Amino acid sequence: MFSCTKVHAFAYTHELNSQPASTSKTTQPTTHRHCTHNARPDQVQQARLDPCLILGGSSGIGYAVAEGAIESNVASLIISSSTDPKVQDGISRLRAAYPSKSTQITGHTTQLNDSENLEANIIALLESATEGRTKLLDHVVHTAGDSLKLSLIKDTTTADIIQAGMVRYFSVFMLAKHLPKYVNPGAKSSLTVTTAVIAEKPNREWTVYGGYYAALFGLVKGAALELAPLRVNMVNLGWTDTELWSGMSDEKREQTRQYMAQHLLGKRVPKPEDAAEQYLASMRDANSTGTLYGTNGGELINR
Ligand SMILES: NC(=O)c1ccc[n+]([C@@H]2O[C@H](COP(=O)([O-])OP(=O)(O)OC[C@H]3O[C@@H](n4cnc5c(N)ncnc54)[C@H](OP(=O)(O)O)[C@@H]3O)[C@@H](O)[C@H]2O)c1
Repeated sequence: MFSCTKVHAFAYTHELNSQPASTSKTTQPTTHRHCTHNARPDQVQQARLDPCLILGGSSGIGYAVAEGAIESNVASLIISSSTDPKVQDGISRLRAAYPSKSTQITGHTTQLNDSENLEANIIALLESATEGRTKLLDHVVHTAGDSLKLSLIKDTTTADIIQAGMVRYFSVFMLAKHLPKYVNPGAKSSLTVTTAVIAEKPNREWTVYGGYYAALFGLVKGAALELAPLRVNMVNLGWTDTELWSGMSDEKREQTRQYMAQHLLGKRVPKPEDAAEQYLASMRDANSTGTLYGTNGGELINR
């Protein structure tokens, strides 16, 4: 078992050189936050998001979703992650970035990598975010993910498997279990969670994560059915340049960026704000549920 930061540039290199797998990804049109000048007034009205909780909102893709929500004039936004300084820093950065917006931004520190207290922690987060169910949520996004520990199957223990799934799968399940009591009833409300192309395009040492990410396909569709009219969707992510990779050396991270800019079909480095558009589309489209959104620079069809 070793840290992903030593190997992932090569893992993705291998991935991009591999034969592509098929995908059922669906990308929905969105009232893009940078394109609202083209929108009719009724579309602008419809695009408003309110109120919104983001698990993993203190950095990377969750933070970019928070930015997009504020740009869509969300009235209240709650970001959550496991370390209080990061939550506070996230709040400060968002407030500083949008001084003229009236969005009320708050945070809650929640540990999702804790099997014993997972349900209690999620209930505490939802109670806090809704002020004891007095202010129900419209939208919840889950982008939380702890640091990856990659290993070959032959070196992986049962404890490793359970640990690897705690934040990325078990916490999503428990969130789905408790969320219905904390959202406004109706199809406007949504839960949007995160999967990764590794579920469809495997790579050595990533199998435990690929398994959980594939399992999320079933979880999301089952939850969409059981929790309706609450909508449940997920976003399938390819490599994105975020703080997730901050454990790499600067040199290795730059090499990875250059590799992506060369080999992805768009010939550019995927950014968190690209991914954020998918989560925003999921929130805005009251007709989408059980849907797989995706953004990966063509990684799944690239030979
Ligand atoms: N970036 C990519 O290339 C990529 C590709 C495919 C899939 N994904 C997945 O997409 C998700 C978001 O990735 P990202 O790139 O935005 O990563 P990121 O920048 O590292 O953000 C991860 C977020 O999760 C929080 N978190 C970590 N451990 C946690 C825990 N135990 N309990 C609660 N929150 C926790 C982090 O804050 P704290 O540290 O404060 O807890 C942070 O807010 C992850 O699940 C990742 O695996 C990413």
